[in-house]
Amino acid sequence: MTSDMTTDTGQEAADFARRTSTDLLQRVEDRLRSLLAAERDAWAGVDARAAVPIDALSELIASGGKRIRPAFCIAGYLAAGGDPADPGIVAAGAALEMLHLSALVHDDVLDDSSRRRGLPTVHAKYMALHGGRGWQGESRRYGEGVAILVGDLALVYSGELMSEAPRTAVPEWNKLRSEVMIGQYMDVHAAAEFCVEPRLSRLIAKIKSGRYTIHRPLVVGADAAGRNDLAPAFEEYGEAVGEAFQLRDDLLDAFGDSADTGKPTGLDFTQHKMTLLLGWAMQRDEHIHTLITEPGHTPDEVRRRLLDTGVPADVEKHIDGLVERGCKAIADAPVDQVWRSELTRMARRVAYRNA
Ligand code: IPE
Ligand code: IPE
Ligand code: MG
Ligand code: MG
Repeated sequence: MTSDMTTDTGQEAADFARRTSTDLLQRVEDRLRSLLAAERDAWAGVDARAAVPIDALSELIASGGKRIRPAFCIAGYLAAGGDPADPGIVAAGAALEMLHLSALVHDDVLDDSSRRRGLPTVHAKYMALHGGRGWQGESRRYGEGVAILVGDLALVYSGELMSEAPRTAVPEWNKLRSEVMIGQYMDVHAAAEFCVEPRLSRLIAKIKSGRYTIHRPLVVGADAAGRNDLAPAFEEYGEAVGEAFQLRDDLLDAFGDSADTGKPTGLDFTQHKMTLLLGWAMQRDEHIHTLITEPGHTPDEVRRRLLDTGVPADVEKHIDGLVERGCKAIADAPVDQVWRSELTRMARRVAYRNA
């Protein structure tokens, strides 16, 4: 009887937590759209062409995305006992997604990627438009120029949104946004230098991705609720789960289906990205270095050779270990049981993408 009651109460608390997060995530969507709608109204009145960069962001939002960063920010906030009625947390969640949009648009230029969220990337779309219309200048320069500006605009909007969030969240936000750019530099540099250094590959996965996706959004949420004491537990969880998230992204780039991911497959090979997957594989099989760096080899050849090394299975095992570490950190964290379970579920979802 007692245990049934406990279970029922636990289930009710879990349902309530889930409903509250879903409601806040919906408000994040509304805030993103209302900001862009207001900007569009203002600029379309000046000149129809001035609304183009704003529309590019609206299209990116409408085309999908998992909203992982707002979800972790809201989870951190609610786990810390934050008031769901406070609009500041909605602004913080929207700021994180807007910063992510900025990073994505710029990342696709850096990585020379043609698709994002199932649509042409911003630079690819405007490059094609330029070519099709026979405009002046180089199409590629035009497309990439538009993408730089669209990404910058998203960055500015993310700052505006964050200015509506509780001030206590600002120091973590500042760390998060400079860090992602340093991380992206490290990623670009490691691809150019192409030095096999698995330790560096893991560091890059965390700095360019894991931290701004999981660790710091959680801390932004906790800080917004005035609970900086949760930072160490969220760091331990977020470092592990964040790395697992990026290693999964790397595996999907190598072996996934572009119809599911909405982005090209095999791009990390053509861009010679020094992922942990490749780093470990090259330590075992030097020929993979040649397949990546010398022209004339197809992604299928690389895939087959990678599978022969057994490294993809090792990366899977490493992901399992990271998820376990993250779940252990959250099991010991000073937050309600409901949030321990919820963050455990979220860890599995980002690491395995199927829950
Ligand atoms: C893609 O992030 C960029 C990385 C950091 C790997 P997501 O996988 O969260 O992309 P969306 O937001 O769901 O499109
Ligand atoms: C990009 O990492 C991280 C950021 C956007 C900051 P990736 O280059 O692996 O992301 P995808 O695979 O293009 O989404
Ligand atoms: Mg990329
Ligand atoms: Mg990737």
